[in-house]
Amino acid sequence: MGWKNRDVISIEDFSIEDLDMLFKLTDEYLEGKYSNDLLKGYIIGNIFLEPSTRTRISFEVAAKKLGAEVINFIGEYSSIKKGESLFDTFKMMDIYTDLIIVRSPIEGTARYASDICKKPVINAGDGMLNHPTQAMIDLYTIKKIHGRLSDLKVGIYGDLRYGRAANSFILGITKYPNNVIYAISPPQLKLRDEMKEKLKEIGANFYETSNLNEVISYLDVLYVTRIQKERFPDPAEYEKVRGSYKIDLKSLEGSKPELIVLHPLPRVEELSYEIDITQRQAYFKQVSFGIPLRMALLSLILGKV
Ligand code: CP
Repeated sequence: MGWKNRDVISIEDFSIEDLDMLFKLTDEYLEGKYSNDLLKGYIIGNIFLEPSTRTRISFEVAAKKLGAEVINFIGEYSSIKKGESLFDTFKMMDIYTDLIIVRSPIEGTARYASDICKKPVINAGDGMLNHPTQAMIDLYTIKKIHGRLSDLKVGIYGDLRYGRAANSFILGITKYPNNVIYAISPPQLKLRDEMKEKLKEIGANFYETSNLNEVISYLDVLYVTRIQKERFPDPAEYEKVRGSYKIDLKSLEGSKPELIVLHPLPRVEELSYEIDITQRQAYFKQVSFGIPLRMALLSLILGKV
């Protein structure tokens, strides 16, 4: 299918060959092999209808490193406050910009934007399932550190019910052969049935448990996520699971020397700062790879490479 003018809505839409092409260009950008006026004259529209530190800023940095301009659409100061519809907002940004990046709490917003806009749309995270560019960064990080994306034992720990980064990562890593997924969560935060059905359909090898100890010695990767407080329909339900798990040095006892800890961030109380200074820590590497990978993504979609 190729990358030019492509919408990025779900990691499910991308083949291993697509990802290989993206990762190859990311490698080049990581080594500094890019032109800082490649995207000169392009205007990127950031529409963030939900808070973000990494995704919004790293897309902006990526665009600027390649010479593009960025418009940050702030809902609070826009005509959404006067009752403008999302349809019209997307229509305006399609007229003003060359590529649109969308984050929203509502599942399907990015797909809706892509139906309205002629310009390419990148999903910067919507609802509880899709955060495709985060998944691409996660996969790239594992490839850089472990040298492969297959034959891995991968634990995903935390809020698997509401966490879109965790769900997208699972859909990404299960594209590759011979991986075993250990879905580790408190019982209330297990994978949704819809997600389990998807995994069964694709023939993924996955195992559910609420006990990290039971599987820690097998793992090559431990992907930790915070509890997504903002997605609980009932705050009392959040209070019941709040603080129910935490990764610290003790919880990693018995693990393989090569185990790495990933986290899409932000962290709250589920990941101890004591991991930061160990060889296990891969989450700041994830953050740093976000810039070259998003640069590569913008270049490929805008057809400049
Ligand atoms: N990983 C991630 O999506 O972080 P932000 O919410 O800060 O963008």
